[in-house]
Amino acid sequence: MDLSVSWLGQTLPGCLYNASGVMCREEGELEAVRASAAGAVVTKSCTLQPREGNPEPRYFRTVIGSINSMGLPNRGFAYYLDYARRYDYRCGKPLFLSLSGLMLDDNCAMLRGLAVEGLPAIPEINLSCPNVPGKPQLGYDFAATAEALDAFDAAYSGLYGVKLPPYFDTAHFAAMAEILNRHSRLAFVTCINSIGNGLVVDIDSEAVVIKPKGGLGGLGGDYVLPTALANVREFYRLLPGKDIVGCGGVSSGREAFMHILAGARAVQVGTCLHREGVGAFARIAAELTELMRAKGYRSLDDFRGRLRTL
Ligand code: FUM
Repeated sequence: MDLSVSWLGQTLPGCLYNASGVMCREEGELEAVRASAAGAVVTKSCTLQPREGNPEPRYFRTVIGSINSMGLPNRGFAYYLDYARRYDYRCGKPLFLSLSGLMLDDNCAMLRGLAVEGLPAIPEINLSCPNVPGKPQLGYDFAATAEALDAFDAAYSGLYGVKLPPYFDTAHFAAMAEILNRHSRLAFVTCINSIGNGLVVDIDSEAVVIKPKGGLGGLGGDYVLPTALANVREFYRLLPGKDIVGCGGVSSGREAFMHILAGARAVQVGTCLHREGVGAFARIAAELTELMRAKGYRSLDDFRGRLRTL
């Protein structure tokens, strides 16, 4: 049984890795992901300067998922660039640097900073953080996204990816795909970030469960699986030649299978990784292997994108 993935000119030993935001702020966490059964590593979305993020409590686990309003707490670009300099690329697990500048110039400065180093790390530019007060999600502004992608192309000559917010309307899938398809070095899109600005209410205290933004935060876990699958599927159809990274609602081999069936090249794990730690990768991989065996599939290519419609 083969869970390896051919992607971006290399062969990843597995199809699962962390979603940016979980187990990726500190070097020790990143190294724990790298040493696990994960097939790649992505850093916490970083800003040019370090950030404390939003006030606590800012992450809350529910029975079926999570809500967070972290507010991009991170060590700053220089920290993750330094990690990228020292990363052991010989492990065969690509390192993705997640960038989430507070303005377009910041993202371009980070891309230029990565470019001058000539490192194999691959940028995943986050167009979709819902949690910085006063800063809308760029991916919901199509004109601004088009402008940003033009600027990324000018700042960086290598392959890159973007992390998208969830879309909910077929017209929006089409409009965003038309913009993304103009950029040949945009090699992958990660679908989806959390469903932004949900609200979890605690009945006992009659209160919200996180402090920032009056309790509003991004939803993850089971809440988001169908939306994530729809986004993976639609962008898989609409972005030929680009790869889709599935993210959202993966807590067992079954959801990983669904993402790949919908078209995902690789699959990120967020809420479940936060709950379970890096052991989640080996468990989910074993479950996926068992499911593939039961269905007679030997590799991910045997069923990737082959979702049937009725
Ligand atoms: O608030 C946060 O740090 C989350 C970022 C994201 O969802 O992109």
